Amino acid sequence: MEKIILTGDRPTGRLHIGHYVGSLRRRVELQESGEYKDIFVMIADAQALTDNAENPEKVRQNIVEVALDYLSVGLDPEKTNILIQSQIPELTELTFYYMNLVTVARVQRNPTVKAEIQMRNFEASIPVGFFTYPISQASDITAFKATTVPVGEDQEPMIEQTREIVRKFNSVYGETLVEPEIMLPDDKSCMRLPGTDGQQKMSKSLGNCIYLSSTEEEIKKAVMSMFTDPGHLKVTDPGKIEGNTVFQYLDAFCNDGFFEEYCPDYKNLDEMKAHYQRGGLGDVKVKKFLNNVLQETLRPIREKRHEFERDIPYVYEVLKKGTEVSREVAADTLRDVKEAMKINYFEDKALIKEQSEKYNA
Ligand code: TRP
Repeated sequence: MEKIILTGDRPTGRLHIGHYVGSLRRRVELQESGEYKDIFVMIADAQALTDNAENPEKVRQNIVEVALDYLSVGLDPEKTNILIQSQIPELTELTFYYMNLVTVARVQRNPTVKAEIQMRNFEASIPVGFFTYPISQASDITAFKATTVPVGEDQEPMIEQTREIVRKFNSVYGETLVEPEIMLPDDKSCMRLPGTDGQQKMSKSLGNCIYLSSTEEEIKKAVMSMFTDPGHLKVTDPGKIEGNTVFQYLDAFCNDGFFEEYCPDYKNLDEMKAHYQRGGLGDVKVKKFLNNVLQETLRPIREKRHEFERDIPYVYEVLKKGTEVSREVAADTLRDVKEAMKINYFEDKALIKEQSEKYNA
């Protein structure tokens, strides 16, 4: 079977380097691999509205930010369809039919939904739209007959829910939908990056992000004040690598070539780590090295972003085209779904005949 990718992001802020090492870098690799017949990357604005109903302007502003970030890391509209979820009404229609195949209890058991309800203090009053977003996400995935969904492990319950809906739909109405596989991050091409303060996650509200669009100065400032090993007080003290944010970032970004250029005292990261653990290597030196690595990695991305920023109409044109192409695919799937459910009355030639015979036997 031909392989098709669908994945996406909620447009609630600019993307940061956590997104880059966690998913964006991998998406570009998948795009260049030539293994996929189609790739769809969705800006999930309708999903973002399920918990930002009072703040549509935030979602509206961030659509172009996310699109700029996509283009600047190398997603290529010639190879990848970038689409805006809300502009494909077929997705909403699919959701409405899938809702009949899922119980309230099943959604309540979804660990990601549970965690989000807590995080947003929704306990007492959960918006129905928010509650049903896993079903809408199943529509996103199945509408494009996606075989492969590259996402972080927090999305695992969503893919499992999708697979259940597909199995249920196919068993009730006949083989129609494609059961997708999750593609989890592997440690080589994508990993989870902590915030610059060492907290588990980068997040705008914690102020511990480095953005793809951060300036040279902002990056430097963030690196030089980064969390390291609080027990490493004097240069001569032995230092810890585990839980040391600077080394976690180096794991994600550096390769041996960077040592030759910026830190020839070591051949590779293992040597640098060993020295740090022995004692005698100061945080400032490691941070300066990390700063060089990040500056060199992020400069071309930022420069490309600036080029696209000068032509915003082009960016919207990319989104419009990507959405149009995608909508046709979703419309085909919706047609298949309605045919399988036999709610395609005006295309169903046998129906008129059947009803006529019933009354005129
Ligand atoms: N839920 C995803 C997130 O919060 C975004 C998303 C929406 C998505 N629809 C999707 C991801 C379909 C993968 C497939 O990041």
